[in-house]
Amino acid sequence: MKILMVCLGNICRSPLAEGIMKHKATEKGLDWEVGSAGTGSWHAGELPDSRSIEVADKHGIDITDQRARQFVKSDLDNYDLIFAMDASNYQDIIRMTDNENQKGKVHLIMNMSRPGMNQTVPDPYWGNDGFQNVYDMLDEACEAVLEKYT
Ligand code: 4NP
Repeated sequence: MKILMVCLGNICRSPLAEGIMKHKATEKGLDWEVGSAGTGSWHAGELPDSRSIEVADKHGIDITDQRARQFVKSDLDNYDLIFAMDASNYQDIIRMTDNENQKGKVHLIMNMSRPGMNQTVPDPYWGNDGFQNVYDMLDEACEAVLEKYT
């Protein structure tokens, strides 16, 4: 299974999603490839936000090997599943698709654990207290991904 986590900047939410998903897959002995990207390019090459690094570290997950990159069209062929954090990421990705096969790979990540609710993982960038909440939501969603695809 090849999974790509996508948010806007690829420094707050999707690096956490990548770290959590990798951690869970490794714990289960699964040979999954997990990556992340942002629909925007502003932070390309940067480390995850220090607040994401901190909350991951608190849960025993090291995400400091990650560097931000922008989502590219070829990701739609190179990955099996593409998880968007919010509706605007979802729409930006869908706009880049060429066919139904690519479209079928794209999902809002919270629909994994809360099917059909179309919930958003809130962007924590501008506040300071959203990171633990984002972690908890992504932990729940990634657990559901494991259950659904193993
Ligand atoms: P992310 O958060 O999409 O979860 O990585 C953001 C990071 C940076 C910006 C917006 C959201 N920004 O506008 O620079």
